[in-house]
This record gives sequence, structure tokens and C-alpha cells, in this order.
Amino acid sequence: MLRGARPAATPAPSVAAMTEPLLIGAMVRTLGAYPSGWRQPGAHRDPAGDAAVLRRIAEEAEGAGLDYLFFGDWLATGPDLEFRDPYLLARIDPLSAVLHLAAVTSRIGLIATVNTTYADPYATARQLASLDLLSGGRAGVNLVTGAEPRAAGNHGRDAHADNETRYDRAEEFVTALRRLWDSWGDDAWIADAERGVLIDADALRGADLQGEHVRVTGPLNVARPPQGQIPIVHAGTSPRSRALAATEADLALIGVPDLAAAVETRSILRDLAAESGRSPDALKVIAPILPVVAETDAEARRIVERLLALVPLAEGHQRERTAFPANRTVDALADALGVAEDDTLRASAFDAPVTAAEVERLGDRGAALVERVGRIAGLVVSGTAADADRPLAWRHLVAAHAVPAAFVVGDAAAVADHVETWRDEGAADGFNVLSAYQPAQFEAFTRLAAPELRRRGLLGRAGETLRDRLGVTSYVDA
Ligand SMILES: Cc1cc2nc3c(=O)[nH]c(=O)nc-3n(C[C@H](O)[C@H](O)[C@H](O)COP(=O)(O)O)c2cc1C
Repeated sequence: MLRGARPAATPAPSVAAMTEPLLIGAMVRTLGAYPSGWRQPGAHRDPAGDAAVLRRIAEEAEGAGLDYLFFGDWLATGPDLEFRDPYLLARIDPLSAVLHLAAVTSRIGLIATVNTTYADPYATARQLASLDLLSGGRAGVNLVTGAEPRAAGNHGRDAHADNETRYDRAEEFVTALRRLWDSWGDDAWIADAERGVLIDADALRGADLQGEHVRVTGPLNVARPPQGQIPIVHAGTSPRSRALAATEADLALIGVPDLAAAVETRSILRDLAAESGRSPDALKVIAPILPVVAETDAEARRIVERLLALVPLAEGHQRERTAFPANRTVDALADALGVAEDDTLRASAFDAPVTAAEVERLGDRGAALVERVGRIAGLVVSGTAADADRPLAWRHLVAAHAVPAAFVVGDAAAVADHVETWRDEGAADGFNVLSAYQPAQFEAFTRLAAPELRRRGLLGRAGETLRDRLGVTSYVDA
């Protein structure tokens, strides 16, 4: 059987396997995962300095025992991203980033995103096999079909293909990768100097794929990668995405609003995996986590307050920017909460404190928003019994609504409690750790939260290759 191939019978998970540490990786966005992150004191804010920041994050992550570094991708840019997702505006290509980091790390996995709608499968198989060889078996790939229509114009297409077409191509793309990585047998390289035989020609086979979207002959012109089959991650949301994850992926990334949605999504994915003949345990479901962590809960809440306060709202020069998001006004908030007819609310200034009487008029959804902002940022409604030295202003409410983020706020124990609860409830097999800004917030995670996660047995898997670390064997022989 080839390296990385699925064993004939999937063993039942042992109790030890069920309590082993989770899979925990860093989802790296150098300009921070929250749109106002780059404005924080001391935050990295210049892509020209990305290389140094990337190296620092990689070293921190490896030192803390994280399983992998993960890099997303987006194949276009434009001024609208400045306010929506600043980290997408300008950044290093993910494969280039992981290749660079392969040289400054020795244990951590390196996962780069590739867009199957636009990438060439032969070139992709070759790049990943090269990364796997150069990193000693630490490569992984996140396959996405892309949600950015402007990518079409950058790749000579008239339009971004529809969901069905993109996933049809993605399925063929995976088959092509698999066949190319298997085009060299494990023992194909002989290098017998005495006999003058370099390879076993019989151990070399073609890919021979004649699909509707992908055609590739093979074999691959890179020797067999150390992992054999490089672990495949998939991230998407549509039914076709779930089917692809369930049948082909080792890791499925989910983006969910809460614990209940994660439990449901993981259960659907596991059922689909079982339906396709795999062990559900072969598919690991990874949820995002955006910890804002500090020495104390109070300090962490102050950081969130600052993040909310610095979200650009529709004021000053931003009003003239055509690309400015429409939802950054009190009006838009009132609309969204269904209380737009209340003229008094609409006239509220961003920096005016929110009063108890106003909260009354915001309705149930408004009250829930106020409660959440109080919980994550420690802000208090004026005129209530609570200590109001940190008053809630309209600015905070508009920002929290316009830029929702699943912050987990507090000290190390708060972050570990979250991870533990999600594990115990069956919501996730692991987490992608996002950081509101770099490198300070990631360092706070590795310095404060990671030791606590290790202490509780939630972090710290063993394994030389990424596949070993992930503990995955899924691979359907193409
Ligand atoms: C957690 C998560 C991370 C993702 N990361 C990326 C990414 O880096 N690049 C990308 O093009 N799509 C990414 N996607 C997928 C897109 O958001 C989008 O869902 C997909 O490309 C279109 O497929 P869908 O219609 O099946 O969702 C991600 C999705 C999730 C859930």
C-alpha cells in the first residue's frame, strides 16, 4: 500500500484517541483578523515587514506546540477591502509564505490555500510535493473554490463559474492531485550506483485523467513526497462543499456562529463521511476561535473595547469613500434591529452614551447586542446601577453589529474553558486560532493560553509529519 493511503479496515477509535489533544493551528493574517486590529498600539501594519512578522509567528507557534500554520487566500483586491477585510488588501501568496517558513521551522505543519477554480492541478501537485520534500513531510493544502467574483478577471475568465461547475472542477482537481502524488511508487527511486539503475521504471505510472475540467497525463516530475498523500483541507459552506469535505478531505474548516451550529455542522459532516464509506473519525472538523487574551479578564475586555472603538464608522472623510461599508451608521443599526422608525435613535451621535431608556427601545435583538458587548468589552449602559466608568457608546454597538466576531475574551482559563467545552459537546476536533492583531495578540495566546491548554491535555500532539500529527489516514484511491 502506498504511503498515505487509507488502510483496508478503519480501526474503531480507542478511548485514548478520543481524549488525545485537539488539533490546534494558527490561521495567520499578518494585518490581524479584526478590521481595526492594525490600528491598535504596536500592531503590525505594513505588508513590507510581513516576512519578519511571519517568521516571528511561526517560531512562536512551533514553540507553543501548535500543529500547523494555516494561510488562506483571495485572488483579487480592491479599495472596498480596506474597511471590510483589510488583511485581504495586500499579502504574500500562501505557498510562498509556507515555503519561506519551512526553512525557519522544523516541526510545525504548513498548510497553504489553493483555489481549484483557477489553479493548474499539475503545477499545484508539483508545488505541494516540493514543499513536502523541502519541509520533511509537513505540507498540507486547503482547497477552496473561491467566493470572489473579481478573481475571474485576473485569470482570463469572463465570469466566476457557478457553484456546481466550481465543485465539478474541484472534484476532478483532487483526483488529479492524488494520482500525481501516487505516480511514483514508494520505492521507485533506487539509485543503485553499482548497477547504474536510478529508478524502477515500473514503479512510475501516469495520472491519465481525462475529465471535463481537468486533463493531466503525468507522472509528476517531482519524486514522491514524504507523506505520500499530502493532507487535504477543505473550506466552504454549500452542500457541494460539504460533500467534497466528507468524501475527500482530512480536515474540514467550518465557519459557524455558535456552539449549537458547530455541533450540528460537525454531525452532518461526519454522517456524510460515513455515507461515503469512510470512518467519520477520519474527517476532523476544525472551528475558528478568535481569542482576545490577557493576564486578566478586565485587561482582555479593555482590548476588545479598543478594537470596537477603532472600527472606522461613517464619519469624517470616510463618508466620501464610495467603497465604505453601508452598515457603519446608527441608522443602519436601527434598520437591522427593526427599530428604524424611532427618529430619536437615528439621530444618536456615535460618541453619545447609550442610555437605559434607549436600550428599552432597541427591542430584544438590541438588548442581546447590548448584553454581548457588555460581556466581551465590559461596557456599561449609562444610568444603570452598575459602575459606569466605562460607558457603552453608540460607536461600540454599531461596530459590534457591523463587524461581528466570535471573540473569546478573558484570561488563559477562559480560552481553555471554551476549547474544552467545544470538545466535550462534540462541536470540533480542533481550532484555527485567529488573532485580532499581530504579533501581540498571537503572542498573548502562545504565552498565556497555550500552556494552560497543554496542562489540560488539549494541545500538544505528537508526530513527525503533518499527517502523523493530524492522525488522519483518509485517502480514497483514485
Ligand atoms: C473557515 C473558512 C475559511 C475559508 N477560507 C477561504 C480562503 O482562504 N479563500 C477562499 O477563497 N475561500 C475560503 N473559504 C471558502 C469561501 O468562503 C467560500 O465559501 C467558498 O470558496 C465557496 O464555496 P461555497 O459556496 O461552497 O461556500 C473559507 C471558508 C471557511 C468556512
